[in-house]
Amino acid sequence: MRILSGIQPSGRLHIGNYFGAIRQHIAFQEKGDQCFYFIANYHAMTSRNDRAELEANTLHVAMAYLALGLDPDRTVFFAQSDVPQVTELCWMLNCVCPMSLMEKAHSYKDKLAKGLLANVGLFDYPVLMAADIVMYDSHIVPVGADQKQHVEIARDLVTKFNLAYGAEALVSPEPHIVPEVAVVPGIDGQKMSKSYNNTIEMFVSAKETQKRCGQIVTDSTPLESPKNPDTCNVFALLKLLADPVELAEIEGKYRAGGYGYGHAKKRLAELINDKFAAARETYAELEKDPSRVRDVLRDGGRRARDVAEATMQRVRAACGIVTHRGT
Ligand code: ADP
Ligand code: TRP
Repeated sequence: MRILSGIQPSGRLHIGNYFGAIRQHIAFQEKGDQCFYFIANYHAMTSRNDRAELEANTLHVAMAYLALGLDPDRTVFFAQSDVPQVTELCWMLNCVCPMSLMEKAHSYKDKLAKGLLANVGLFDYPVLMAADIVMYDSHIVPVGADQKQHVEIARDLVTKFNLAYGAEALVSPEPHIVPEVAVVPGIDGQKMSKSYNNTIEMFVSAKETQKRCGQIVTDSTPLESPKNPDTCNVFALLKLLADPVELAEIEGKYRAGGYGYGHAKKRLAELINDKFAAARETYAELEKDPSRVRDVLRDGGRRARDVAEATMQRVRAACGIVTHRGT
C-alpha cells in the first residue's frame, strides 16, 4: 500500500493538525507502509503571497514532522515544489476536469464566503491536489474530514482521465479519515484552523499553552453547578488527550458540579504540555540546525522526483504528449 498526504505551510501547526492528520501519518509509517508525505507550498500560495512567511512556514512544517516522529529513512518526505512535474500533471487533469466539478468544491465556496481573495489558483486547488495524489500511484490518503471531498474529486478525475486516455493510466485513491477526531474544535468552538485564529499551537512554550487553554470559550455556568460535558469545548479537547479512566472521572465531576471550567482548562494544558514535551525538545534542536532539515528535504525531493518522472513518462505517452528532450 502506498500512503500519501500533504500539509500546507500556511501557518503554525496546531493540535487539530496533529489529531486530524499528522498522528495518522506517523502511524502509517510505524505500521510499515510505504509513505510519501510532502509540504504543499504551491497550495499555500493560493491564499497568501508573502515570501518570508512561506519560507519560514515551510521549514516550520518540516521541523514539526521530524520532531513528531517522521523518519526520513522510511518515509519519502519532500517539498511539493521540488517535484515540478506536479504542475504538468495538474494541467493534464485540468483538461479533463469540468468547471462544474470545481464550482461544487466546499473549501473554495467556504473561502469565498469568508471574503478571501478568489484567484484562479484557489479555484484550481483540488486539481493540483489530485495531481499530488495520483503522481505517486497513491492508494490511501489520510486527511481530516474537511479534505474528503478533495480526495473524491481526485477519484472523479482519475475516472475521467482513464476514460479519455486508457483504462490503467492512473490509480484511484481512497481517503482515510478517523471519525472520532474528524473535526477538532478550536478555542471558540468552530473547527480549529490556522485561518480562524482559534488554534492551540503545538510548538510553543508550556506557559503559552496554558494561556491559550485559558482562552477557550465556555458558558457561564457557576462553579458549583452541574455542567454538561457534551456541549463543552474544553471537554471535547480533553477527549483527545485524557486516558479513558481520567476522562470518565472528569465527566463525573462536570455532572456533579463543584468543578469549574478553570480546573478543566488547567488539566487540558498539562496534558497538552506532557504530550508534546519530547517533540518540543527535538524541535528546538532542529531549529539550531536548519541545514540538516534542508538536507532531508533535498533527499526526499530526489526520491519523489524519480517516482514522478516515471509516472509522467507513462502519462505523457498515454495522452499523446511527445517530448523532444532526449540527449
Ligand atoms: P488549517 O485549517 O489549520 O489551515 P490545513 O487545512 O492546513 O489546516 O490542514 C492540514 C491537515 O490537518 C488536513 O489533513 C486537515 O484535514 C487537518 N486538520 C486541520 N484542522 C483540523 C481540525 N480542526 N480537525 C481535524 N483535522 C484538521
Ligand atoms: N489540501 C490539503 C490541506 O489543506 C493539503 C494537500 C495538498 C494534500 N495536496 C494534498 C493532502 C494531497 C493530501 C493529499 O490540508
